[in-house]
Amino acid sequence: MSEFPADPNLDLLGEDTPLLEGMRTARAIRRLKPDPVPRALIRKVCEAGTFAPSGGNRQPWFFIAVDDRKKRRWVADRYRPVFQKYIQPAMDRGKRDNFSDRLMRNMRAALHLAEHLHEAPVLLFIAGFTRRDEPQIQALYPCAQNVLLACRAVGLGASFTSLHRAFGEECDRMLGLPENIPSAVMIPIGWPLGRYGRPPRKSIDSKLFFDEFDPSTLQAERPIE
Ligand SMILES: Cc1cc2nc3c(=O)[nH]c(=O)nc-3n(C[C@H](O)[C@H](O)[C@H](O)COP(=O)(O)O)c2cc1C
Repeated sequence: MSEFPADPNLDLLGEDTPLLEGMRTARAIRRLKPDPVPRALIRKVCEAGTFAPSGGNRQPWFFIAVDDRKKRRWVADRYRPVFQKYIQPAMDRGKRDNFSDRLMRNMRAALHLAEHLHEAPVLLFIAGFTRRDEPQIQALYPCAQNVLLACRAVGLGASFTSLHRAFGEECDRMLGLPENIPSAVMIPIGWPLGRYGRPPRKSIDSKLFFDEFDPSTLQAERPIE
C-alpha cells in the first residue's frame, strides 16, 4: 500500500476557509494549469473525503490519484472522443435554439476540460466496494463532494466528472481496481487558471417548500434537458 506522508507546510492550508462561503463558491473549475500538485495536498483533500457519511459507516471508498503522465494521457485519449460525441449535439442545439450564455459557457468549459484532460496534473478516481454485486455510486458521491469542497478550501481547481464510466471497465483494469471495487467519479485536479466564485443557481425560494410541495411553481421551472 502506498503512503504519502502529511506535509506540515500544507497542514494549515485551507483550514480557515469559512464552510458556507466555501460551499457557495465551489464552482466547477475546468481550466487547470499543468503545474504539479504536491501529493501531500492530494492526501489532504482525500482525507476530507473520508469524513463523508456512508451507510453503516462502511466507508467503501478508495482513492486512486493518477499523476503519471502516460496514464493521464491514456484516460484523456478515451474521455475526449466520448465527451465530444456527447456534447456536440447539445452545442449544435444550443446554437440553433439560442441556449443561454450561461449554459453555452458551461458546455464550452466542459469541452475545454475534455480537450485538455491530459494536461490536468492529477486525475483523482474515487472507487468503492460493490454491495450485493451492485456498484454503490450513491455512497461515493458525498465523499466526492467533500473532496471538491476541500479542493476549494486549499485553492485547488476541481470538477466532478463521471463520463469515464463509458470506458469504465477498461479504465478500472488500467487502475488495477478489482471487479468488486469499480470507480464512480473522476475529479481532475490542478491549480486553477480561473477563479473560484459563485456558480449560477436558481433562488432557494423557488426550490424550498415547507410541509407540502406546490406544483404550480413548476410553470416557472423548466428542467434543462
Ligand atoms: C453526477 C454528475 C456527473 C457529472 N459528470 C460530468 C462529466 O462527465 N464531465 C463534466 O465536465 N462535468 C460533469 N459534471 C459536472 C457538472 O456538469 C457541473 O456540476 C455543472 O456544470 C455545474 O457546474 P457549476 O457548479 O460550475 O455551476 C457532473 C456532475 C454530476 C453531479
